[in-house]
Amino acid sequence: MVRVSTFSTTLNAVTNTWNPQSWRNFSALQQPAWPTDGDLEQTLKILGDQPPLVFAGEARDLLDKLGAASRGEAFLLQAGDCAESFESSADSIRDRLQVILQMAVVLTYAGGMPVVKVGRIAGQFAKPRSSDTETQGNVELPSFRGHIINDIGFSESERRAQPNRLLMAYNRAAATLNLVRAFTRGGYADLNRVHQWNQEFVADSPIGEKYETLATDIERSLAFMTACGIDLNREASLNEVDFYTSHEALLLDYEEALTRKDSITGDWYDCSAHMLWIGERTRQLDGAHIEFLRGVKNPLGCKVGPTATVDDVVGICEALNPDKIEGRVTLITRMGAESIREKLPPLLAAVKETGHPVLWVSDPMHGNTYTAPDGHKTRHFDAIVDEIAGFFESHQKAGTIAGGIHLELTGDAVTECVGGGDGLGDSDLAQAYETMCDPRLNGRQALDVAFRVAEIISQR
Ligand code: PEP
Ligand code: CO
Repeated sequence: MVRVSTFSTTLNAVTNTWNPQSWRNFSALQQPAWPTDGDLEQTLKILGDQPPLVFAGEARDLLDKLGAASRGEAFLLQAGDCAESFESSADSIRDRLQVILQMAVVLTYAGGMPVVKVGRIAGQFAKPRSSDTETQGNVELPSFRGHIINDIGFSESERRAQPNRLLMAYNRAAATLNLVRAFTRGGYADLNRVHQWNQEFVADSPIGEKYETLATDIERSLAFMTACGIDLNREASLNEVDFYTSHEALLLDYEEALTRKDSITGDWYDCSAHMLWIGERTRQLDGAHIEFLRGVKNPLGCKVGPTATVDDVVGICEALNPDKIEGRVTLITRMGAESIREKLPPLLAAVKETGHPVLWVSDPMHGNTYTAPDGHKTRHFDAIVDEIAGFFESHQKAGTIAGGIHLELTGDAVTECVGGGDGLGDSDLAQAYETMCDPRLNGRQALDVAFRVAEIISQR
């Protein structure tokens, strides 16, 4: 059985020559119903003439770093919004970045290795939906598919797919990326300052005592470095951070329009982000998403849920990474806390046997969503931490590398997930439930997760 399906995928990839449009010959799930008046084609032409958002050389740097993570020499922290909004303020974007950098410092210290920082940011605008339409009362309208396609309000005009949103998404991504580059390169987020923010969190958290030892250890290390004559404010490696962008490559029209041939290598890169991933709903081996992404040289991710078979996972590795390049494929498992210890081990064993150099990462969010009594979609902090623990346990048993985590978070003080140090409960959800899609960890819950993961990785 394994042989038949993987063989046919490989055959498909070999007999079919790739180009940026070749995905159009395959079935593409989760695409919107665009108007047929020529607007889309015209918009795509304009988009195709825009400058790239990221550069091939940057994507290659990230590939090398993810390769290191796949060997256990670095750890990937991939995090950000579930669905970015066109209306996000600069402060909100800055706060999201700040939380990711704070988490990274904790994880770097605990793991004793570099943390590769990749945001779900500057392009995370398209969302897969379980249903094409949404019904409220007796009105049925197209589902909200992310700001790159339509708007969240429940009216016919807001839910119509609007091609000009592709250009708005490009411009938003460019502006966000500009902020990211300024924030991470301009010295604002130097190590000392990030550590100070963490100390404030520890001092202020009801369970801060638990994290105090780690924070004090980091404090001592910084003092030691200063005593040795290292100027923390001047040392570029300490006040500049490498931060990469990523999003789900869902809307293939957009991704194709931003795909460019690298002048140095002659290879194709999808210049909408450094790293692109394929979602759980669009990872079909004979589908358009695999077809499109196999031809660009960016590092790629693929979500792997509880229904994924060994055939699926090995097939994905063969289709996306026939040359077995380290850092090329990141498999992001999202099994649910209850399933991970049962579902992950067979996949780890099968991939190990093929010799594919996969970077395994845990997304402990998407398999743990449930609806609270008041109707809000939520996730429990304990389930999130439990899935991460199950992920590490499974890798330890299989002799494979648990190489990173993938989270949905915001720096804003939202109440979307329950649990964590502040003990948010179901009845708190309505206070500040702001997400346009899935429930995100707020800044304090995200740091709680980082300290919990730090405990796990420092015991390895
Ligand atoms: C997501 O990452 O927001 C998402 C939709 O995940 P998945 O494809 O794993 O369901
Ligand atoms: Co999500």
